[in-house]
Amino acid sequence: MNKIGVIFDLDGVIVDTAKYHFLAWKELANHLGFEFTEAHNEQLKGVSRVRSLEILLDIGKVELSDEKKQEFLVSKNEHYLQYIHEMGPEEILPGASNLLDTLDDLGIQYVLGSASKNAPLILKQVNLFDRFVGIVDGNSVSKAKPDPEVFLIGAEKLKLKPEQCVVFEDAIAGIDAANAAHMISIGVGDKQTLSKADFNVEDLTEITSGFIKSLITKIETVK
Ligand code: G6P
Ligand code: MG
Repeated sequence: MNKIGVIFDLDGVIVDTAKYHFLAWKELANHLGFEFTEAHNEQLKGVSRVRSLEILLDIGKVELSDEKKQEFLVSKNEHYLQYIHEMGPEEILPGASNLLDTLDDLGIQYVLGSASKNAPLILKQVNLFDRFVGIVDGNSVSKAKPDPEVFLIGAEKLKLKPEQCVVFEDAIAGIDAANAAHMISIGVGDKQTLSKADFNVEDLTEITSGFIKSLITKIETVK
């Protein structure tokens, strides 16, 4: 019987696809006649595709018909997928593969909890798809992070209570979602940005087997 389970965000935790989103959104912004910077791109992390376009259009103060928006959502994704199709296992972020090995060794199962509709494809590109016992992605949720829905479905797939789940996230909206789900939240990235996380690490290389075992003890004690 598993005592805990893990839910991973994808973009910024397992792989860095933000740079490809940036290139694709930047091209669209330039096409519409305005600049789109890396700082602007920060606002799109963890945010759904549709919401990302709305934020981008706000930045450029551009108004579009629903039809045009739909057209640009499709063309942006097609452009983004050109980069994704070039991805391979070498793009897995530091520490991610080792952490999955550690969890396997400890008999702890893990699922994906991502806003991306391309999540299954990305996991296949980097040869990690088969390792997850479940995938919750942008196709399976009706409410985006910071709503906890994505992680609550993840807990169901792990057959665990939310309190038994640990979430790895790089976006503020994701940490808020994990906290709202009453899960243990681990912020991956800038500690100040992710100050609401229960624990913070720069990257997954910092997560040791000892740390995971301490989480098991913590969750057991709370029960
Ligand atoms: C992740 C990324 C976001 C992206 C979203 C949707 O949450 O952090 O930047 O907008 O997924 O991705 P998609 O692949 O469905 O366009
Ligand atoms: Mg992310």
